[in-house]
Amino acid sequence: MKNLLSAICAAATLLLPGCTPKDPVEARVDELLSRMTLSEKIAQMNQLSGRTDMREAVAGGTVGSILNCVDPAEINELQRIAVEQTRLGIPILFGRDVIHGFRTIFPIPLGLAATFDPALVEQGARIAAVEATASGIRWTFSPMLDIARDPRWGRVAEGSGEDPYLDAQMGAAMVRGYQGGDLSSPDAMAACVKHFAGYGAAEGGRDYNSTMISERSLRNTYLPPFKAAIDAGAATLMTSFNEIDGIPSTGNSFLLRDILRDEWGFDGMVVTDWNSSGEMVAHGFAADLKDATRISVNAGVDMDMMSHGFSAYIEELVREGKISVKSIDKAVGNILRLKFRLGLFDNPYVDASAAAQACYTPEHLQAAKLAAAESAILLQNHGEVLPLENARRILVTGPMADAPYEQLGTWIFDGEEEHTVTPLAALRKRFEVVYVPALAYSRDNSTAHLAEARAAAAGCDAAVVFVGEESILSGEAHSLSSLDLQGSQSQLIAEVRRSGKPVVVVVMAGRPLTIERDLANCDAMLYMFHPGTMGGEAVADLLTGCIAPSGKTPMTFLREAGQVPYYYNHNNSGRPCKGNETLLADIPLKAGQTSLGNTGFYLDSGYGPLFPFGYGLSYTTFVYSNIRLSKQRYGTDETIVVEYDLQNTGHRSGTEVAQLYIRDMVGSTVRPVKELKRFERVSLDAGQSRHLRFELPVSELAFWGMDMQYRVEPGAFRLWVAGDSASGEPVEFEVL
Ligand code: BGC
Repeated sequence: MKNLLSAICAAATLLLPGCTPKDPVEARVDELLSRMTLSEKIAQMNQLSGRTDMREAVAGGTVGSILNCVDPAEINELQRIAVEQTRLGIPILFGRDVIHGFRTIFPIPLGLAATFDPALVEQGARIAAVEATASGIRWTFSPMLDIARDPRWGRVAEGSGEDPYLDAQMGAAMVRGYQGGDLSSPDAMAACVKHFAGYGAAEGGRDYNSTMISERSLRNTYLPPFKAAIDAGAATLMTSFNEIDGIPSTGNSFLLRDILRDEWGFDGMVVTDWNSSGEMVAHGFAADLKDATRISVNAGVDMDMMSHGFSAYIEELVREGKISVKSIDKAVGNILRLKFRLGLFDNPYVDASAAAQACYTPEHLQAAKLAAAESAILLQNHGEVLPLENARRILVTGPMADAPYEQLGTWIFDGEEEHTVTPLAALRKRFEVVYVPALAYSRDNSTAHLAEARAAAAGCDAAVVFVGEESILSGEAHSLSSLDLQGSQSQLIAEVRRSGKPVVVVVMAGRPLTIERDLANCDAMLYMFHPGTMGGEAVADLLTGCIAPSGKTPMTFLREAGQVPYYYNHNNSGRPCKGNETLLADIPLKAGQTSLGNTGFYLDSGYGPLFPFGYGLSYTTFVYSNIRLSKQRYGTDETIVVEYDLQNTGHRSGTEVAQLYIRDMVGSTVRPVKELKRFERVSLDAGQSRHLRFELPVSELAFWGMDMQYRVEPGAFRLWVAGDSASGEPVEFEVL
């Protein structure tokens, strides 16, 4: 009845003679807002965790959104209380961290980024939305768009890695997938871009830590993925825990008002991270929770996740004139707008009986398998040991071979390990398998069963060693200072190597680990990140050659943790490394002091990474040729057309990720040595050649320069089309 009344009122607003017709949602927001008391407004700004009984809070009209309640029957009951028992009947918005799948778990986001396949990532997000909304979850706290250049930080697992363009493509794809074409459709889930901003730049890779990011690098590097995802329609945004140059993001009006609202025109809703408002007290930026509340609301936060400060202090702060009613109306308007856009007022309930059937459908499992297969990066394949075509009997060993929970990765609140297909289970269907776990879990330091694994390998045609990280070793608050394989995993690989049989290592981890020593002890290495529910089937398809690996590194792989941070799109020093630097072992005793001609390399580990960004092999080989531009000189409003030929020069079909990089040779500020601007997955049969093209508007060469204006600076550029960020010969062009 209440809903009907508000609809009639809204319609009346629309029809008033002489009035400009208003967007129907805006009219409904304004009408509802005009009937709300201050305490009803404050309730909307309060989000609570549903790990405890929420019925009293909902009946008391003190909460606008609940996270972590996933039982559809309970969601319906809470919704019924909100709609029928509160004065205005405003429905609750239920949120959840649906990060890489709800029940059907896809690869972790870093693995998804390795696919370089936004269409598949979009499909994965759509599937996550279909499964989660069937339980009544209409809001996910994803995608995480934090550029991460430090693999010590556990949350690298949750993002798309080090590159702004790749991150932007993946973020926008996820937003489209979660939200579908129409946010009001019952299977649409509002996306939440997070964490705004700079969270991935935590000093030392220690989670939550301070960041020191200039406005220019914020705008050139950290913000573009957020802008892209917002342009793709992201309905909400989450602030971050960190401070930038002394200002915690939850209290940063430059980020939340000047950039987000005024420059980008965002009309969605802003939520804090979990207690990030309250944590401004620990930062020493707010005196107490009341002060933190004042700072957050005035900075532009709409909803408080779990600091409890908004519900406790806003009324008082308004009375004291420290927060204006206008800013409360703005915040509540943003929240109501989202609830109207989601269609919650018209259709607040979920069909609880359909929740289970929505999950694990054959289509969902098939997409998860494909994503896992595409996320695998072939780092080494000596003697074309892979695919294992002539092996009949194989040794399967290592702590990740049959670890159904661990292969799902971080943030899988609703994933169920009973549905996981492990490598062991899948490989048993394809090979005669001898299984020796050797280590119970990734941190297992025991060496008791390593010899057993070696002996078993000796009796097999090949050995496949599954190593990596348990899921708890990455994700939030799980930073590491060593990036080597944990426990006795490296010893296990070395021991199996001694069998003399071909050794294939499969890594399932939450981050790029330092695996140089392990590469030396195996013939082939497939790097998977945590692959999710269907990881085992994907591995089996890859090892047998049903699918050729096509993943590419979404972050630079390092030799040593001491090289961090290291990313391909860095600026040049005045003494760029040449690759002929003198390493420790070559320095003579009592060498005289000299620095002339030396560069910024490490005496012990040199300069280069283990594998560059964008790197990954296939079971075949690809050759790029005839890279040519439509012109040599371009105006700023023109489009560069790059044509090239790509040939599969091997004996198997395969898929290559062709990548286009540019370098702006001279800028008003120093420009990165390379920047990814386009990529495309290209499938080719053995021997097949294709003539391909990229189009790049010159406007996409713009950046924030010396005068902090966003523009393309005329001058010389270089362009590469190659299979990774370190290959290819440049082609030159000029912007007039
Ligand atoms: C994380 C967020 C997450 C939130 C809700 C926080 O600890 O930083 O990414 O969405 O919890 O679970």
